[in-house]
Amino acid sequence: MSIPTIDTVHDWNAIRADFPLLSREVHGKPLIYLDSANTGQKPASVIDTVDDFYRHHNANVSRAVHALGTEATEAYEASRTKLAGFLKAHRDELVLCSGTTFALNLVAYSWALPRLKPGDAILLSRMEHHANIVPWQLVAERTGAKIKVAEIREDGSLDIDALYAAMTPEVKILGLAHVSNVLGTVNPVREICRETRRRGIVSVIDGSQAAPHRALDIPSLGCDFYAITGHKMCGPTGTGALWARREHIAAMPPFLGGGEMIKEVRFEGTIFNDGPHRFEAGTPNIAGHIGLGAAVDYLTAIGMEAVEAREAELLAHATEALTRIDGLRILGTAPEKAAVISFLVEGAHAHDLATLLDLEGVAVRSGHHCAHPLMQFFDVAATCRASFAFYNTHDEIERFAVALTKVRRLLG
Ligand code: ALA
Repeated sequence: MSIPTIDTVHDWNAIRADFPLLSREVHGKPLIYLDSANTGQKPASVIDTVDDFYRHHNANVSRAVHALGTEATEAYEASRTKLAGFLKAHRDELVLCSGTTFALNLVAYSWALPRLKPGDAILLSRMEHHANIVPWQLVAERTGAKIKVAEIREDGSLDIDALYAAMTPEVKILGLAHVSNVLGTVNPVREICRETRRRGIVSVIDGSQAAPHRALDIPSLGCDFYAITGHKMCGPTGTGALWARREHIAAMPPFLGGGEMIKEVRFEGTIFNDGPHRFEAGTPNIAGHIGLGAAVDYLTAIGMEAVEAREAELLAHATEALTRIDGLRILGTAPEKAAVISFLVEGAHAHDLATLLDLEGVAVRSGHHCAHPLMQFFDVAATCRASFAFYNTHDEIERFAVALTKVRRLLG
């Protein structure tokens, strides 16, 4: 297993070598993986941890007293503790789940559905991913609440004055991305949550694009709920967590009923488990979450401040390199930006660009990025998006720019 040590901590080439997939070729060219906002690659330590679990420890958790059951439960709960440490939270505030989509739906159905009334409003920003829009629409339909939209500026930053003006008394919930998956815009969550708390609005933050890229101290943000996903932060797919204030955890009814979320079941009625376990019905993604624990160890060993600094450097380089390409327009130029670049090239369709880039070994995402309202704002159907992680290199950025120049010529 290769976890960076003090000696290699800022040797980015050595860190990159921890990711087996990054050394493969695609269409006969070395892979340049620029789709980490979609899903992140996995270091060998995470892959080995999942493999080791299935080879040597596989058993269900919280149920059996035999040795394997105990080992599995200890490893699974150790991951909850590690993840809580990574987020500066308490383990009793973390519901482990399949990812951000599940986490946001849990808040919508368990917290909001029983509380919202006709005339109430849910405020969402223009830059939300569909996962932080559609659950609220479903809940609004069932409760008679309405959706309000907080608009953005042309540079892709949130219009903070408009946001505060939209926080009228009927607004009960604010749904907000910490970092936009399309534009990379970093929203000032701490400042905004000061305002929501002052006005009694419950804040639900989608942190799926923030947790993999910056050091977090969730309780200090002042939000009510914070959702993260494991597969974007070096962990396995189907993992993640909802952080919720203790008072919300205690007050929320279970979302799914089943095994292990109960204390006692009688046909006359059921007494539910306390804390996060109350929301974890059924056999969870045990191996995945143990793998996520390994991902947390890995990221912690590098240091999230170092990750953030490295990615800021890559973003600056990539922005400069793309600006050299004629006819290329970057969408999202907010002053606070994560390492995500959405772009359009004059006369070329985003899917054609992505298809031809793939033939050059470059993996970027094209399409609406699960953010239709944002595409509507920019009046485009699709963009190309290059998203970076600390394991990308400056050399890859130069080769990406060369490939893009070639592809642009082919399409022009
Ligand atoms: N997987 C989604 C993206 O690519 C969230 O942005």
